[in-house]
Amino acid sequence: MRIVSGIQPTGRLHLGNWLGAIRNWVRMQNALEPGGQAFFFIADLHAITVPHDPAELRRATREIAAALIAAGIDPQRSVLFNQAQVAEHAELAWVLSCTARMGWLNRMTQFKEKSGKDREGASVGLFTYPVLQAADVLVYKATHVPVGEDQKQHLELARDIAIKFNTDMGVELFVPPEPIIPPETPRIRSLRDGTAKMSKSDPSDQSRINLTDTPDAIRQKIRRAKTDPEPLPAAAAGLEGRPEAQNLVGILAALTGRSADSVCAEFAGQGFAALKPVLADALVAELAPVSERLRMLLAEPERIDAVLAEGAARARAVAARTLAEVHAAVGFLKP
Ligand code: TYM
Repeated sequence: MRIVSGIQPTGRLHLGNWLGAIRNWVRMQNALEPGGQAFFFIADLHAITVPHDPAELRRATREIAAALIAAGIDPQRSVLFNQAQVAEHAELAWVLSCTARMGWLNRMTQFKEKSGKDREGASVGLFTYPVLQAADVLVYKATHVPVGEDQKQHLELARDIAIKFNTDMGVELFVPPEPIIPPETPRIRSLRDGTAKMSKSDPSDQSRINLTDTPDAIRQKIRRAKTDPEPLPAAAAGLEGRPEAQNLVGILAALTGRSADSVCAEFAGQGFAALKPVLADALVAELAPVSERLRMLLAEPERIDAVLAEGAARARAVAARTLAEVHAAVGFLKP
């Protein structure tokens, strides 16, 4: 088993990243059998596909690395690095951009969402973003990629690219990767609007729980979270058409390791005034230890830089072997 996943250093980590991805990364790392490997990286190359501030990128890259360590990613067991330090990602992305088809990329919903009405003004990198993401996982021959549901389409593209490259070149080089998506909480929604996903780029901080929020801030955000006036149903099926209610029930279910049905059964007939304090307590209990460790780690930025440099060296050793095979398969002359 070879696990690979990444996260963009844009803004702060939030509950969607936590329940959708990072918590799973830690679980999978801890369950690795001997011989298994895990690679987790900060996707700084992806972060520059939209306008950015260099100082803020450096800050966010360190902060996310620290948050991953605070969350339980162990840099001894897993390979933790920032993507830009491993040039093979960008090099493979070029080769794979000659495999991927325009029509495939035209179907990517994230590009449509992120470019909005200004398609012509979007960077070329934003359009080819999913090809770089395919390179990120294929360069390590990942077998499993733990992600939130919003990344499913990109992973399907990575599989298509892997299969087409192998077929075109007549090789068995790339392994089509399996996405691993948490079933109870495939997509965490904004606390202000149950139809939008919780996101680092939402201008309202009230829309998300950040990993760095204080217990008071968490309680206040949950108190103010949008709900509806209906009581909770006896089973999760009764939440249909109530996205905010569904979201809060899903979050509590994920935090307490239960099904949404069991949460509904407990609160059946009661309003959200009963569920919200229980949810806030569960959030504080889960996130407070992480944010405390994070604050301690941020006091030592040199240590974080050293961890990333060492991770990058280990990652390069694996990525370089794949690139050598790619050069041979494509027909590039050896030096
Ligand atoms: P990013 O940085 O937006 O998010 C990191 C991880 O968090 C998950 N996630 C969510 N899950 C559930 N609900 C939400 N509201 C939510 N918001 C974010 C994402 O699914 C993701 O798993 N393109 C990727 C980064 C990336 C990558 C990769 C991932 C680059 N290369 C290779 C996997 C493999 C992204 O922007 O994730």
